[in-house]
Amino acid sequence: MTLSNRLWRSLFALSGMAAMASATHIRLASWNLRFDSMPNNITVQQTLATLSDPLQQPAFLNLTGEQPWSTRRIKVAQRLLSENIVLAGFQEALVRQVDDMAELLGTDWSWVGVGRDDGVAAGEFSPIFYNKPVFELINNDTFWLSNTPFVPGSKFPGAGSVRIATATHFRVKATGKNFTYINTHLDDQSDDQRRLGASLILWRAHFEASQNHGHSTVLITGDFNSASTGDDSGAYQIITGELPPVAINSTFMERFPIPNGTLPGFKALDLRTQVPRFAVSGNFASFTGFNAPDDTSQYQAGGFTPSHHVNGTAIKVETSLTDDGVIASDHRPVFGDISL
Ligand SMILES: *[C@@H]1O[C@H](CO)[C@@H](O)[C@H](O)[C@H]1NC(C)=O
Ligand SMILES: *[C@@H]1O[C@H](CO)[C@@H](O)[C@H](O)[C@H]1NC(C)=O
Ligand SMILES: *[C@@H]1O[C@H](CO)[C@@H](O)[C@H](O)[C@H]1NC(C)=O
Ligand SMILES: *[C@@H]1O[C@H](CO)[C@@H](O)[C@H](O)[C@H]1NC(C)=O
Ligand SMILES: *[C@@H]1O[C@H](CO)[C@@H](O)[C@H](O)[C@H]1NC(C)=O
Ligand SMILES: *[C@@H]1O[C@H](CO)[C@@H](O)[C@H](O)[C@H]1NC(C)=O
Ligand SMILES: *[C@@H]1O[C@H](CO)[C@@H](O)[C@H](O)[C@H]1NC(C)=O
Repeated sequence: MTLSNRLWRSLFALSGMAAMASATHIRLASWNLRFDSMPNNITVQQTLATLSDPLQQPAFLNLTGEQPWSTRRIKVAQRLLSENIVLAGFQEALVRQVDDMAELLGTDWSWVGVGRDDGVAAGEFSPIFYNKPVFELINNDTFWLSNTPFVPGSKFPGAGSVRIATATHFRVKATGKNFTYINTHLDDQSDDQRRLGASLILWRAHFEASQNHGHSTVLITGDFNSASTGDDSGAYQIITGELPPVAINSTFMERFPIPNGTLPGFKALDLRTQVPRFAVSGNFASFTGFNAPDDTSQYQAGGFTPSHHVNGTAIKVETSLTDDGVIASDHRPVFGDISL
């Protein structure tokens, strides 16, 4: 399969309730880490011990192509920590990558998520990492983006892979404000799967936003494998309300009941289209592959913000490339600045 113009990653947010007097300004990240396709047994501590002299100039773009995760993980963690993010949704992370990120981000951080293949640790996670001094995790769950959302490992017919969404409820410690955060990775092969996934996530988001007990703000991030226009844009168009959702599992609808069972006017807004144009910075493409320099792709980046009361202030797509030629991932990190 050719990777066509349909790879973008996004930050969505939704809201249904008036904001509290004080807001917490945060930066969150969404990053497809590229699964560890070149596994080795090098520990994080061993990699850290081999970092070069900081005053030594690296051979410029000396390395090309995909490097082992054991090398890439350092660049990923450095980027996230230096951006002062406090919340992050990853995609494609195998359990050893989740463990490595936990080790590198350090003891202020924790995470939730499960492997999509068995609901435990097999296959890729769409984990959510959070900074513990800023957030308290209230609860979390995973649903499968299939016709049987509560069956671990279930796959939509025709999809390339099993697909999941990780859902969380957090409390901002400083203000007591609660919010919902959902992170996902939609299918790379089936637009029907992406449409179903977007419809399930939008339904769940509407349910959360309709709760009047503090869970009314919803953030969504993901690798949607969907551009904003064109043949592969079904997921984008459904989640932003341009197309109606497709039919979803009725057990799911009953577990997350929405008033009147409909989605009138409820949608996610793309942070990329909601903040002032000057505040949309960095790159356009969020997927580049492992070609250096990593600016050769035309793939579109997305980002999402609330309909009300979750104010986005900025979004940027940063590079994954450093001078030595290491590309931290075949995707670029997306950073969103919002008020909660
Ligand atoms: C990693 O270590 C295990 C256990 O010693 C071994 O079976 C495996 O071959 C090693 N993998 C690599 C890539 O070195
Ligand atoms: C360039 O990369 C090769 C591995 O591809 C490595 O052996 C060599 O030390 C690097 N050179 C410099 C100057 O970093
Ligand atoms: C996440 O949810 C699972 C399933 O309910 C639960 O077993 C686990 O303890 C939760 N994790 C955290 C950190 O709360
Ligand atoms: C909906 O999903 C549940 C499990 O998540 C399954 O038991 C049920 O059969 C599904 N309903 C339909 C109509 O497929
Ligand atoms: C946040 O959620 C918790 C647990 O559901 C609840 O006890 C608390 O009242 C909520 N806080 C706010 C500000 O809604
Ligand atoms: C549900 O439908 C009824 C009857 O049309 C309407 O009066 C009510 O406002 C609706 N409730 C919501 C939450 O949309
Ligand atoms: C969002 O912006 C509006 C208008 O400036 C303001 O009234 C509201 O308090 C802000 N909400 C948050 C959560 O920052």
